[in-house]
Amino acid sequence: MSCERQLKGAKITGVGYYVPEKILTNADLEKIVDTSDKWIVERSGIRERHISSDDQAASDLAYEASLKALEKSGVKAEELDQIIVGTATSDMLFPATACLLQNMLGAKKAAAYDLTAACSGFIFGVSIADSMISSGKAEKILVVGVELLSRITDYTDRATCVLFGDGAGAAVIESCSPQEGILSTFIKTDGEYTDLLYLPGGGSRNPLTEESIKKGEQYIHMKGSELFKYAVKAMVQAAREALGSVGLGPEDVDFLIPHQANIRIIQGVRKRLKLKKEQVVINIDRMGNTSTASIPIALGELEESNIIKKGNLVLLVAFGGGLTWGSILFRK
Ligand code: ACO
Repeated sequence: MSCERQLKGAKITGVGYYVPEKILTNADLEKIVDTSDKWIVERSGIRERHISSDDQAASDLAYEASLKALEKSGVKAEELDQIIVGTATSDMLFPATACLLQNMLGAKKAAAYDLTAACSGFIFGVSIADSMISSGKAEKILVVGVELLSRITDYTDRATCVLFGDGAGAAVIESCSPQEGILSTFIKTDGEYTDLLYLPGGGSRNPLTEESIKKGEQYIHMKGSELFKYAVKAMVQAAREALGSVGLGPEDVDFLIPHQANIRIIQGVRKRLKLKKEQVVINIDRMGNTSTASIPIALGELEESNIIKKGNLVLLVAFGGGLTWGSILFRK
């Protein structure tokens, strides 16, 4: 599904991110499972990741990131019309983490809801915010991607535990003239491959029992090498769709911010789009895979770096469990 600009415009006016203080290095993991720094760096590009403390939940990380995004945009929490939180690790199954966040921020006016699109959650959220704003249903929306993957990671499974980290990123999206800001969005799903990345236990299909906990069904199950095959293809498609729908091509892009799942996936996408190394924002070495938080964290870091200039064309591209994938193209 692609959506071209029609009525009002929507633009990202403030980005904030938060990662927990505690760092888990590859050397730390070498002590827990049969792995090595060399394997992890070569196969994934990850050197360290941030891990939440026991008393932190999704709403806490989301709150810190949101405060920064609101400050950058100059928007007050009370002015928000909506809060959309993308997460697979909400504080509780319900209410939505967005409802908890609304209360923490004092964003009394905002309708608040979560969406689950795994690593593509932030992109799906921005796409919804863009549609809401361009159709005149809202003026100011806070979109958050937050994940505490450490809570659903099996630290005896070397195939997954070396990959994931915790963090949150947030963006304020506001209405603007149709020529500015977000130029196009693209979201896509293929439910045929849900078994490549999923959390089997704890839902209505398979509530947690002593038995299911013994089987490790409270943890992420991932077929990494099979996912890998879809990831590059899907992300390249998402990039081309967002660009093509407004008559642009990869040669017009100044910065690509891909979901940070694996350095080899990122390089594969970069090469197929024929982008230079310096055009691609990479922080997987320091963050690991933070799922839906990875793109807004990387965007926040890019904004802080002052490399990005007004008028630059930025392409955000995600891929995740579901399978879900998508992209956002915007003019800074
Ligand atoms: N340390 C050492 N050896 C390991 C480790 C480890 N941490 N993990 C696996 N191995 C071994 C395997 O056991 C296997 O050994 P074998 O050949 O003796 O059987 C060997 O390394 C190769 O394993 P593969 O799984 O084939 O390794 P691969 O090169 O595919 O890398 C990885 C694995 C990093 C998971 C990669 O497949 C990947 O990144 N996949 C994509 C993940 C992704 O895109 N996820 C979706 C987004 S994330 C989200 O939605 C939350």
